[in-house]
Amino acid sequence: MGWNSWNRFQTRIDESLIRDSAEAIVENGMRDAGYRYVVIDDGWEAPERDPAGDLVADPERFPSGMKALAEHVHRLGLRFGIYTDAGTRTCAGYVGSLGYEFRDARRFAEWDVDYVKIDWCNAGGLGTRSVYWKWSRAFRAAGRPMILSLCEWGRTRPWEWAHRVGHLWRTCWDIQDTWESLTTVLDKQRGLQTFAGPDGWNDPDMLEVGNGGMTLDEYRTHFGLWCLLAAPLMAGNDLREMPDDVRRILTAPELLAIDQDPLGIPGDLIKQWDGSEIWARPLADGSFAVALFDRADADREIALSWDDVGLDKKTRVQVRDIWERRDLGGTDGGIALRVSAHGAAFLKLTPEGSA
Ligand code: GAL
Repeated sequence: MGWNSWNRFQTRIDESLIRDSAEAIVENGMRDAGYRYVVIDDGWEAPERDPAGDLVADPERFPSGMKALAEHVHRLGLRFGIYTDAGTRTCAGYVGSLGYEFRDARRFAEWDVDYVKIDWCNAGGLGTRSVYWKWSRAFRAAGRPMILSLCEWGRTRPWEWAHRVGHLWRTCWDIQDTWESLTTVLDKQRGLQTFAGPDGWNDPDMLEVGNGGMTLDEYRTHFGLWCLLAAPLMAGNDLREMPDDVRRILTAPELLAIDQDPLGIPGDLIKQWDGSEIWARPLADGSFAVALFDRADADREIALSWDDVGLDKKTRVQVRDIWERRDLGGTDGGIALRVSAHGAAFLKLTPEGSA
């Protein structure tokens, strides 16, 4: 969990934005809710490497340098992340790392970096497995534990091999701040659940919550479904001026507990009909998290039967609404709830005798 500069700022970044965002994470309660990584995405580099061949931060926008920025972030009790590209140039046209993997990993380690996102632009003709494997060895040689975030957009089915080289892997193209993009990204996650778990996660891309292109209901759906998916939660909005209703979504305690559930089994689509969808995941304490999701453009009732999640219909189940943080009581057979258009009800189901 953390924050990344890309979704909101693209390459319009500098050290005061990063510093202010890190401070905001502490002040607004996100750090205490679990958000730890402050990640600078594309656009931080100077146009050229230095004479020794090392990457350099843009001296105008990052005058104090990356080591000082990392120190500031660490002093706040947070971790520091950075971005590079496996090819010759980053997606925004900055210097890439191809052929410099060991040198760049060493430089990141010298800067006390904790997390590196490695993109795949301008890498034509290269094999993802061998290049990311090289990075993995370069991290080890650099001698500092750093999270390796693979970003080849799901092109070579990283869920099948990337847990050997890194910690998370993008499963799809970039998310945009629109409902259409959100549902497209969501559909790409179906069937990938068995590949992810502790230490190796499917990454459906960073959050758009609070960026203005969707309604609050849609952002709630976005956030809740990402928690059901056990997704890495990287906030992507401007934390320096965050309205309270957006903060409440990003820090919803019972949703975050689902995302971070120690069993680490991501949810999957278990049933769908006529624009209604049910997503579910099993949890460490024997209960289930379930989303009743209304993809259609009108409110509707969505019914869940206990056998949809593999329980005997006769089981008595305690139902809790984890957005509202309200117990709905014990029920036999199933439950039906009214869900608003593009909204979702997020429930925790605890079969009696399981917890
Ligand atoms: C894309 C990547 C985005 C962002 C961008 C930077 O390839 O998927 O998340 O990092 O490059 O240019």
